[in-house]
Amino acid sequence: MSEEKEMTFYEAIHKASSSITRFPLIPVRGVPLMNYIANNWDSIWAFRPDPSDLLIAAYPKAGTTWTQEIVDLLLHNGDAEACKRAPTPVRNPFLELFSPPPIPSGLDLLEKMDPPRVIKTHLPFQLVPPGFWENKCKVIYVARNAKDNLVSYYYFDLMNQSQPEPGPFGGYIHKFMQGELSWGSWYDHVKGYWLEREKRNILYLFYEDMKENPRREVERIMKYLDLSVSDEVVSQIVELTSFKNMKENPMANYSCVPSVVFDKSISPFMRKGEVGDWKNHFTAEQSKLFDEDYEKQMKDVDIPFRTLI
Ligand code: A3P
Repeated sequence: MSEEKEMTFYEAIHKASSSITRFPLIPVRGVPLMNYIANNWDSIWAFRPDPSDLLIAAYPKAGTTWTQEIVDLLLHNGDAEACKRAPTPVRNPFLELFSPPPIPSGLDLLEKMDPPRVIKTHLPFQLVPPGFWENKCKVIYVARNAKDNLVSYYYFDLMNQSQPEPGPFGGYIHKFMQGELSWGSWYDHVKGYWLEREKRNILYLFYEDMKENPRREVERIMKYLDLSVSDEVVSQIVELTSFKNMKENPMANYSCVPSVVFDKSISPFMRKGEVGDWKNHFTAEQSKLFDEDYEKQMKDVDIPFRTLI
């Protein structure tokens, strides 16, 4: 066995830590992506999933990890131990992520797994490799209201030493509105999947619905995946995927990423897990300006986002 194969995910990131910096963004078809992703774009675009693979897609910080944990538990009939076999990014490879060696890329991890695989992506609809649509893969999309999504992303960019410097909060709001953050425009992202959801059989979830009634949303996911677990197991999954339990679960809370990359002294990955935290961050003036711009950017769709529940 080679040295690299024996290395855990944590060790691989640790080993690469001197090469981790706040990576610059390079546009791929107009969408700003980390340079490592942009530089490997051709191989990402060429990825051919198996028809049995499942894609979980979201704009960063919309509830991806939460959805991934629910799906893994559903696929393992609520078996908590089975879902602690590896940290989230090893269980569900991050399709487009490329990082300095020896960190395995999403494609490296996928190559070593047999289908059916559960794959994570933050790519907007138009950048999802066409193989997913050609093979009619199931896709779960999770969306979160713009203001909470922005606040969560702001803290993430503060703590994640591989993301561009967020700068002051006021300026960050402008970057968000202009689609200048990593993975591009939130507005285009949520619209892209929304407009295609029927044609492509995409299950479109909302973070706020998951908070309001997690049981109902777990059951929706179960039905979409053509699974049938007992009511008792559904209750168990709801409990295991509560914010509190996931925050304490080392296989779901991103403690697999060492502090040189995720500086938890700035903010934990599992930060607050609430709806409406934006109220603690936006001034009345910022909120007004944001809402006016939102009206313009979202005028062509009617996506039922809720900023409070
Ligand atoms: P906050 O920063 O608002 O706390 P992603 O997984 O897409 O990166 O999203 C991360 C956001 O989802 C963070 O939001 C995180 O705390 C929240 N989150 C993760 N697991 C959760 C859970 N079980 N319940 C509620 N929120 C959760």
